[in-house]
Amino acid sequence: MRFSILMPSIASMVNRMRGGHDPSTGSGRAFSRAEQPTNDVIPSELQPARNLLIFFSQRTVVVFIVLICAYVFAAAQQPTLKQAYNGCFLVGAALNPSQFTGENARQAALIKAQFDTISPENVLKWERVHPQPDKYNFGPADQYVDFGQQNHMFIIGHTLIWHSQTPKWVFEDANGSPVSRKVLLKRMRDHIQTVVGRYKGRVNGWDVVNEVVADDGTLRQSPWMKIIGPDYIEKAFEYAHKADPKAQLYYNDYSLENEVKRKGALELVRKLKAKHVPITGVGLQDHVSLDWPTMQQINATIDDFDKLGMKVMITELDVDVLPWPTPQQTADVSLRVASNPQLNPYRDGLPDSAQQQLANRYADLFRTYASHCGLVTRVTFWGVNDGDSWKNGWPVPGRTNYPLLFDRNDQPKPAFNAVIEAAPKKP
Ligand code: XIL
Repeated sequence: MRFSILMPSIASMVNRMRGGHDPSTGSGRAFSRAEQPTNDVIPSELQPARNLLIFFSQRTVVVFIVLICAYVFAAAQQPTLKQAYNGCFLVGAALNPSQFTGENARQAALIKAQFDTISPENVLKWERVHPQPDKYNFGPADQYVDFGQQNHMFIIGHTLIWHSQTPKWVFEDANGSPVSRKVLLKRMRDHIQTVVGRYKGRVNGWDVVNEVVADDGTLRQSPWMKIIGPDYIEKAFEYAHKADPKAQLYYNDYSLENEVKRKGALELVRKLKAKHVPITGVGLQDHVSLDWPTMQQINATIDDFDKLGMKVMITELDVDVLPWPTPQQTADVSLRVASNPQLNPYRDGLPDSAQQQLANRYADLFRTYASHCGLVTRVTFWGVNDGDSWKNGWPVPGRTNYPLLFDRNDQPKPAFNAVIEAAPKKP
């Protein structure tokens, strides 16, 4: 852009020095050979200096063109995320309406260029898609699925059964008392049939149950568990499978790298498999920090679920660079910690050293994921740019966080280059 603005003025400058027509402005006069002005007006002792100036001006133009070509060539050579990991796993992002409606055109273009799979950050959660007993709100979810289809992306549905972002009415009768097992199972079946059925053959994989194991490895005592009992999980998979037999069906959770929680999750998957429940994969959320979990923990987690025949996906990746405010790392959305200045150290920007730490961390993560090419089938970031990230508001509200690969202006950060460089080299 700048080049095209600069080029005519340099060219015309050189030309003017030669005493010719200025093609860029049309001003000046085209001279016939006969009336070509002579250089007589320039004193002969200044002729060498003038020739030197013309020589260097021409050289400058040539050097400039070569540099621009090299830059354009290098930019064209820089692969996108989906290209860099093509043949290894899909790379995706969680999206919000401004991105998939095209309202934010710059981000929509970035998403189309970089990602081949998408997840809905919120629009398919129960409270959004089914806010009242007889009212479904499919508008935004339809737009999300349309966007994915138009761009030939692998479309994820997140999420059918979760304890969070599910309205209270789901679990209560008209008097506010807990409903019976039978009623709740019927509500669950109706919801799953309606939502999965609507997108049959279009949404490729569903997070059927989200966060059903507690940090201590036992089944989470959610209203689903308390009212229906532990078989609510297999029922959810069965209903989803019935509604779309071809869709991939996942159990998605956080902190499965923690040995205690992982043990419980492995036990759950083993039991589901033994009962021939139609589960196809396990999602590791990977809301991680700069130093947790270790690569050893990540490797072991992928291997453990792979051994049970599960596809493994990294479903909600982001790297928190801010101080963690509680003793135990978690991604439990109910956690709330009051803000204070020590917890928000990078309000005015991320220092270079932290930027580099983030890039190194991302390189390690992607090298580890890529060492399981094919077993890990997808890596999805939880957001596109740092400004979108939920990590600015959770678990401490109002912080400035930098957990993703693109900055607040959608520009790639050093971490982006680190992820590209970590990709397996193509033969
Ligand atoms: C988060 C969204 O990013 C926020 O916008 C929303 O307010 C709360 O939920 N685990 C999940 C995701 O499975 O659905 C959560 O998403 C983040 C933690």
